[in-house]
Amino acid sequence: MSVLEARAVSFTYPDGTRALAEVSVAVEHGEIVAVLGPSGAGKSTLFKCFAGLERPTAGQVVVEGTDLATLRGKALRLAQHRIGLVFQEFHLVGRASVLSNVLVGRLATANPVTSLVHWMSRADRTVAVELLTRVGLSEQVRKRADSLSGGQRQRVAVARALSQQPELLLADEPVANLDPVLAAGVIDDIVRMVREEGLTAVLNLHDVTLARRVAQRIVGMREGRVMFDLPVAEVTDAILADLYANEGLAADAAAREEVAA
Ligand SMILES: Nc1ncnc2c1ncn2[C@@H]1O[C@H](COP(=O)(O)OP(=O)(O)O)[C@@H](O)[C@H]1O
Ligand SMILES: [Mg+2]
Repeated sequence: MSVLEARAVSFTYPDGTRALAEVSVAVEHGEIVAVLGPSGAGKSTLFKCFAGLERPTAGQVVVEGTDLATLRGKALRLAQHRIGLVFQEFHLVGRASVLSNVLVGRLATANPVTSLVHWMSRADRTVAVELLTRVGLSEQVRKRADSLSGGQRQRVAVARALSQQPELLLADEPVANLDPVLAAGVIDDIVRMVREEGLTAVLNLHDVTLARRVAQRIVGMREGRVMFDLPVAEVTDAILADLYANEGLAADAAAREEVAA
């Protein structure tokens, strides 16, 4: 059984924008899959459907055999808790400590009635500190989140996502806000943690080099469709050039408009 499956998923935003057109992708246990594609391809929309944050207009998102659309209330929350999310923006509480930010991930799995007690639990703290240590932040545990660098903040976000002990990690352009050297370091940390925990991961990336280095499989998306779904060794430069064809032109046009304005 696939860990995660999109079955002919289409998605249209309320304004009529068709972001996904019959996307089918299956992710198997233990795989690291990179989703690549130009801006506007539908990567983030697919991520939101996978995470249950948006409901497909047509088609199904199936998590370990269960169609997310058939779940309500507690059952839906439980299914969502099996999925750890990392976004481009780190979504940390800047004034709270690094440790508190990670403990929020533990809180997400707790019963609301016991969550205050849970907050104080020694076991949770142990898990949180251990995760922070594994992403190289053992010295930062007590610091305010907003005192950290961008790369460190995204590592806190990764530790938070993993602290809920998910089976699947979804990351939407997790390093898009970081410079290339920092980006590579954070991606390497994410992938190392995913492997150590025996998790499955889907990473939306814009950086082809990073994707090739860490993924076993690459799904290429463009204009809401899957253009290819191949083992990384079969993804040639020509295939990638096709995927991004004309994107440079669009960016150039945007830059010219900016200069003209
Ligand atoms: N909230 C929204 N409302 C309307 N259209 C949207 C919204 N979010 C994204 N889109 C559009 O949906 C398409 C896919 O966007 P997105 O999933 O963000 O692509 P990507 O993450 O690959 O850049 C684009 O045409 C984008 O402009
Ligand atoms: Mg996006």
